[in-house]
Amino acid sequence: MKHFLSINDIDALPDWVEEAKKMKEQPFQFKHLGKNKTLCLLIFNNSLRTRLSTQKAAQHLGMEVMVMNFGQEGWALEFADGTVMDQGNSEHIKEAAQVVSQYCDIVAIRAFAQLKNKMEDEAEKVIQGFVKYASVPVVNMESSTAHPLQALADAITLSEFASKPKPKVVLSWAPHPKALPHAVANSFLQMMQKQEMDFVITHPEGYDLNPEITLGCTIENDQNKALQNADFVYVKNWSSYSEYGKVLNQDSNWMMTQAKLGKAKFMHCLPVRRNVVVEDAVLDGPQSLAIAQANNRTYSAQLVLKKILEQL
Ligand code: CP
Repeated sequence: MKHFLSINDIDALPDWVEEAKKMKEQPFQFKHLGKNKTLCLLIFNNSLRTRLSTQKAAQHLGMEVMVMNFGQEGWALEFADGTVMDQGNSEHIKEAAQVVSQYCDIVAIRAFAQLKNKMEDEAEKVIQGFVKYASVPVVNMESSTAHPLQALADAITLSEFASKPKPKVVLSWAPHPKALPHAVANSFLQMMQKQEMDFVITHPEGYDLNPEITLGCTIENDQNKALQNADFVYVKNWSSYSEYGKVLNQDSNWMMTQAKLGKAKFMHCLPVRRNVVVEDAVLDGPQSLAIAQANNRTYSAQLVLKKILEQL
């Protein structure tokens, strides 16, 4: 693995999960691997968990870390080849990626979907631009279409809390006032497809995810039916994929409540809007794994960085 861009870069998910759980027990065991190595975090969008957990993961491995809020502090990037740069963009991705590569050994990038143009978002021009022009490995800290570090943390959390070999896991859409990207849901369901679990996606009409990614998944538009006998309920909003980036429905009946959750464990990647996405009683109750998931973000990032460092 040179780059870590999507769940498809994980060759054997159960092995990765076990390795991450072992590293969690002894986080400083591989501190020698990162000696005299630098991780550069380029952040184009807001973040709490991803930024801090990835930084902590690198520190556990003995790396130096540089962080740049590129979205606020960097030059506006140009991506097109052969363009006359006489408009707003000041620096071409070709130079930016090559320059950053001279300052670090691994670059990790967060660059969300704009949710205006599906083709442009799916082209992943920021992260793919770095893959093309950088000479160092690239790690995806959430791109337009994927959030694999989150999904790997979720796999670790599922493994830690599962009380039977093949639990039932439901990915349930929830209402939200703003249009949110599909990245978390995409990577979560790609991760679920890599392991033996009973998996159901539930969402209102019009919220089907990319059919290429949901191929083979069970989709149930009746939320109550989908939630029957669930062991884990992963709640997440996403905007419409077919009417790209639109908010079609804010029906509060889709909010996760304690009554609907029953005895299942509640999962969410955070940040979450209380009493819109999920009611307080769930988030503050003993069935919520949201804080445990956030903790596992450190060990998912640490495992990915370790595997890349071992190949440098
Ligand atoms: N779950 C997650 O990626 O959190 P942040 O957006 O705060 O990094």
